[in-house]
Amino acid sequence: MAFHVIETERLTLRPFTPEDADFLYDVFSRPEVARWSGDGVPIADRDEALRRIAGQPKRAGDHPAAGIFHVSVRETGVPAGLVLFAPLPPSEGVDRDDMEVGWHFHPDAWGNGYATEAAQALVDRGFAAGLGEIYAVTHPDNAASQAVCRRLGMTDLGLRSEWYDVELRAFRIDQPRE
Ligand SMILES: CC(C)(COP(=O)(O)OP(=O)(O)OC[C@H]1O[C@@H](n2cnc3c(N)ncnc32)[C@H](O)[C@@H]1OP(=O)(O)O)[C@@H](O)C(=O)NCCC(=O)NCCS
Repeated sequence: MAFHVIETERLTLRPFTPEDADFLYDVFSRPEVARWSGDGVPIADRDEALRRIAGQPKRAGDHPAAGIFHVSVRETGVPAGLVLFAPLPPSEGVDRDDMEVGWHFHPDAWGNGYATEAAQALVDRGFAAGLGEIYAVTHPDNAASQAVCRRLGMTDLGLRSEWYDVELRAFRIDQPRE
C-alpha cells in the first residue's frame, strides 16, 4: 500500500502510522462504534490498536484503489475517523470477488457529513481505477451507516449472506455511464 494522501473539500485521508494508535484505540474502544464491526467487542488496549494498524496493508490487499485511511479535518487537523476500500470477504463456499467501502468515525465527528465526504472520495477513486461496482455492507440495525450508503447514492440490496459469513444489509453503486 503506497503512502497515498487524498484531499477532499474538508478532509485529509492518509494511511495510518503507528503514531495513530491512540486515536484508533479511542475510536474502537467505544461500544457505540465497536458494536457495528466484526465481533462487536471494543478493542482491548493500545497494543491491539497497534496490531490492527500493522495488519491494515494485508487487509487492504493490492488493488490500486485499496487502502485503509486515517481521516482528519483539514482546517483543524483533528482526527475524525477511518475509511476503507478493501476486498469484501466472501462467505464460506461463495465464489465472489468484490470491493467494499466502509467507515468508522469518532462520535465527536458524527453529524458533519465527514463519513459521506471521505467515502465519496474512495468511491470516485475506485471507479477511476476501473471498477464496475462497489459494495458496502452494514449490520441490519445500523441505520446511521445505511444512511451514509443512501447519501452516496448506493442501491439497497436488502439482507444478503454472501459476505463475512453473516446476514448483512448490503448496498451497491455502479460505475456511472458516460
Ligand atoms: C456510520 C457513521 C460513520 C455515520 O456518521 P454520520 O456523521 O452520521 O454520517 P455523515 O458523515 O454522512 O453525516 C451526515 C450527518 O451530518 C449532517 N451534516 C452536517 N453538516 C453537514 C455538511 N456540511 N454536509 C453534509 N452533511 C452534514 C447531516 O445532516 C447528517 O446528519 P443527520 O443524520 O442528523 O441528518 C457513524 O455513525 C459511525 O461512525 N458509527 C459507528 C461505526 C459504524 O457504524 N460504522 C459502519 C459500519 S458498517
